[in-house]
Parts: sequence; C-alpha cells; structure tokens
Amino acid sequence: MNTIKSYLQENNDRFLSELMALLKVPSISADSAYKNDVIKTADMIVESLEKAGCDKVELCETPGYPIIYAEKIIDKDLPTILVYGHYDVQPPDPIDLWDSPPFEPVIKKTDLHPEGAIFARGSSDDKGQMYMHIKALEYMTSTDQLPCNVKFMIEGEEEVGSESLAWFVPRNVEKLSNDVILISDTGMISNNIPSITTGLRGLSYVEVEVTGPNRDLHSGIYGGAVANPINVLSKMIAELHDENNHITIPGFYDKVEELSSEERAEMAKAPFSLDAYKKSLDIDAVYGEKGFTTNERNSIRPTLDVNGIWGGYTGEGAKTVIASKAYAKISMRLVPHQDWNEITQLFKTHFENIAPEGVKVKVTPHHGGQGYVTPIDNIAYQAASKAYEKTFGKVPIPQRSGGSIPIVALFEQELKSKTILMGFGLNSDAIHSPNEHFGIWNYLKGIETIPWFYKYFTELNS
Ligand code: BES
Ligand code: MN
Ligand code: MN
Repeated sequence: MNTIKSYLQENNDRFLSELMALLKVPSISADSAYKNDVIKTADMIVESLEKAGCDKVELCETPGYPIIYAEKIIDKDLPTILVYGHYDVQPPDPIDLWDSPPFEPVIKKTDLHPEGAIFARGSSDDKGQMYMHIKALEYMTSTDQLPCNVKFMIEGEEEVGSESLAWFVPRNVEKLSNDVILISDTGMISNNIPSITTGLRGLSYVEVEVTGPNRDLHSGIYGGAVANPINVLSKMIAELHDENNHITIPGFYDKVEELSSEERAEMAKAPFSLDAYKKSLDIDAVYGEKGFTTNERNSIRPTLDVNGIWGGYTGEGAKTVIASKAYAKISMRLVPHQDWNEITQLFKTHFENIAPEGVKVKVTPHHGGQGYVTPIDNIAYQAASKAYEKTFGKVPIPQRSGGSIPIVALFEQELKSKTILMGFGLNSDAIHSPNEHFGIWNYLKGIETIPWFYKYFTELNS
C-alpha cells in the first residue's frame, strides 16, 4: 500500500490535468442554458470510470439529468462500498467577483495553500472531491490492490435538490445494495487538524411572494396610503427572529434534539479560534442565537436565513415607485428530529398569519430534506478514522457540519446503510462563492487516504 505515495508522484500532473478538463465544462444544473454541458460532463465521468477499471459503467436516464452507475465486483462475499458524488455545480454568479473566469481553472498559491489550489467552480464542490474517488480506484485496480467491491453513483442534480436521484434510488435498491456509503462532499477543520463529518443539517427552502396593489404605483401619489409590499416583506422577515435570535415560528423548536452538557463539552474541545474566524470573514463580531457558541450555531442548531430578496427598482439611478410585489427566498437549516415537511408547513402557516391587511402572501416550498447523524461507534467510522490517522498522522476529530446533503437520509431509509462523510475541503474553499478553489494538497491527500479506508473497512468486516 505504501506505493500509493509513489503512484501519486508519478501521476501527479495527469491527475491535475484530468480534473482541470472536467472543471472546464460548466455543468450548472440550475440553469437550463447549460443542459448540454451538464450532459457532456456526465459522459466524461462515464469515460473516466471505464478507464479507472470499472467492469460495468452505465449512464442511467432519469426524468432529469442522467445518473452514472458503475461497479467493480471482485467477490460477492466481500464487502461493498458505494461511492456517491455529484458532477453538477452551482451557478458562478456574481461573475464580476471572480479573479479568474470560473470555468477556466487556474492554479494559484494562497496562504492556506502554499503548494497551490485549483480555482474554478466545482473544484471543491464536488468535482474535485468526487474525482479523488475515481483516481483512488484507478490506483487500486491498476496495482491490483482493490480489497473489496465498489459501486459508484454520481448524480447531476445535487445542487438543485436531487429530485432524479430520489426517483432513481427506490427503483434500484438491489443494484445499489452496499455495506457502507462513502461520500467526499464536505470539509475538514484544517490541513493540520483532520476531521470527519458526523452530521449534516436538514433543509427546508421556500420562496415567498407578497403582493400589494395590482400594479406598480407612483410612490408620491400613493406612498403612505397603501401597503408597500417591500416594506411589509422586510418587516415580516424581521419578525421571524426575536431579540435573542430565536426563530419565532410557533412549534419550530418542538422536536429539536437538545444535546447534553457532556456532548456540548465534547464539541467544544474541537480546536477553533474565534479571532481567526472573524478575521477570515472580515467581520468585527459574530452573530447568532443567544446561549450557543459559534460552532453550535452552525451545526447543532436550526437556522432561518434569507438567501435572496428582490422587488421594485434596482437599476441605475432612482425611480420613485411602489412595487406591486416583493419576493424572498428563505432557507431553514434543520437538525435531527425536525421533519422538513412539517417545518415547511409551520413556516407557511406562520408567514400567512403574520401578513398584515392590505397584502396577499404566497409561500411556495422548494426542495428540502432531513438531517443526518453518522454514528461513530461502528466499523465504517473506525475504518475512516484509521485511514486518516495513517495519512495525516493524527486521529481525526468527529465534527458535525452545518451544510446539507439531503439525499443521505434517503439513502439510509431506502438502502438501509450508513454514510461516511470523508470530506477533504476547507471552509475557506469558497464553495458556492466567487473564487471557489480546492487545495492541490487536499486533492492528493484525499486520493491517498481513500484506499486506506477500503483496506481497513474490508479488514474490520472480516
Ligand atoms: N457539498 C455541499 C454540502 C456541504 C458542504 C455539506 C460543506 C457540508 C459542508 C452540497 O453540494 C450543497 O451545497 N448542499 C446544499 C443543499 C442542496 C439541497 C442544494 C446546501 O447545503 O446548501
Ligand atoms: Mn456538494
Ligand atoms: Mn453545493
């Protein structure tokens, strides 16, 4: 197994150039103008899985974008690892804030990445992290060291709610059967402090529309005499939190899992510098729910955030107008036991209730999903922990993340298997933001660590 290091050295340049080629294709699932690019990316993944030594690679049609299924089954009696990842990416906007074009990957050095990082949309989320698995497989098959069976399932709609995957999974339970699901689509604390993600938050995403008068009005002739939908919407949004930053929706916290003081004390042991955190974001203070630390606020507590708000005149100069409508997109991050459908309903009822006279309110639910917690007292976690210890020289810290991969809860429900989240990204990778990047060190470290997980997982299972 020590040869993974030499294999990486020998293939370093090719591993980078192959990933760069993948990053050049704008596989933006949210925007139908990029449909051909999304499909082209799927074809590229198929080819790379074939080259990496899979016996069977299928481009599975769905009502939406295709899902790539691949496998290499060496012995039915050995364990099977199912690797999941996504080949779609977020839209690059706002494009002006990128220092280099989002789909022209370039390598640049940064303070955190003295050996360079690849700057491109999707480099960390998730093309780069997904591709580590394909390269790790290539290493294992080409050196005859694959210790167990492996299946791949790579989708193209993760960033828009995984609808087609939710359709695909229940229809292919037998085909997808596995002993553990392995995903690299999260982060770790830092390159010196490896961590394994043990929790993901759930999500409820809604869009709201506030309608006032039947047309846009002159803000002098009508101003002050009719409800202004933008004023009203702002006020309604402000009302969704109280002075302690608790969410005011009745019933919102009813099912929230409360951690014991022991669990919270354990969490607080994870290395974290509030000063460095503030500095990295250029903020002079953090903000959030009273009674909780920053790391608690962004992992074990539910949240409500406006993701976008619009209405009225936003062009150059000034236009005096009262818009007929105002809109906002709102996400709620949920924690274990909160049901996303129930929360969506609670939001809708509450938002309609707090609307003043003179406006009409419409709440449209978007996608959502349940949260997930990975147990750490099982073979899969132990195998992952040993793998990190082998390649980082340190035992990784279990840490819950604030992000969401809603499909993970569905995997457990449909496939009855647990998921291990071996993410090699950093919070500073700027995923979903301008200048997304992925450290070359992280990319190679991921490829190095994955085969060890295969080995230890197989050994611990026998
Ligand atoms: N890879 C992210 C999720 C993530 C990132 C989890 C970092 C933990 C740490 C994923 O692609 C993502 O962006 N998920 C969305 C939800 C999805 C339904 C659009 C999210 O968390 O906003
Ligand atoms: Mn992702
Ligand atoms: Mn994402």
